[in-house]
Amino acid sequence: MSSSEGAQQRETTPIPAARPLPGPYPMSDSRDPNLVNGKMLFRGGHIAREVARLGREVRAVYGMGEITVVTVLHGALVFTADLIRELDMPVRLETVTASSYRGQTTRPNELDVRVTSLEHLKGKDVLVVDDILDTGNTLSRVTRDLQRFEPRSTRIAVLLDKPSRREVAVTADFVGFEIPDLFVIGYGLDYDGRYRNLPDILALDPGSV
Ligand code: IMP
Ligand code: MG
Repeated sequence: MSSSEGAQQRETTPIPAARPLPGPYPMSDSRDPNLVNGKMLFRGGHIAREVARLGREVRAVYGMGEITVVTVLHGALVFTADLIRELDMPVRLETVTASSYRGQTTRPNELDVRVTSLEHLKGKDVLVVDDILDTGNTLSRVTRDLQRFEPRSTRIAVLLDKPSRREVAVTADFVGFEIPDLFVIGYGLDYDGRYRNLPDILALDPGSV
């Protein structure tokens, strides 16, 4: 697998000082004890610039050859939708489903990966796209499971990387932002199934969960 090729040391993206959540999110609302506090990490415009940069990097690696993007649902849905629209080569899209957190912000529960029949990946250049690389368990399972369909190459793109949390040796070929050990929501990432629709990425305030 070529997912560890081209690994580079990357600087951890500095996190802005904690400040109250600006903007329209009603996440700290005493009327609903289930809502949580978040701190702004990356605004939508900033994410869009990094996704465009990732698109250029992907294009530089693959050229105009066809790629098959395998998106890891549900978290990578928003990122994938934006990333593939930055690509001008022929792109096929497939999905796998993985779930592990089920509302936990610290330890993942048992990992559930569903890879349906992807026989047509045989001989293809596959780009696995996920929202975040955390312990590495999900992407190591997904990339391993995909090998049985005999793709020609397998690479990994993630919007976010939390290298300090790694339990399994997985390296992404394309990384949007490196972040410290924070639980983040928005832009596809959820806490207990919520907040995927936020256009920005926020760090959950651990005290509010
Ligand atoms: P891993 O298997 O520990 O690498 O976790 C990867 C999956 O866990 C990601 O695809 C996410 O769905 C989820 N995840 C990990 N960290 C976060 C987070 O900070 N916020 C939301 N989901 C997360
Ligand atoms: Mg996920």
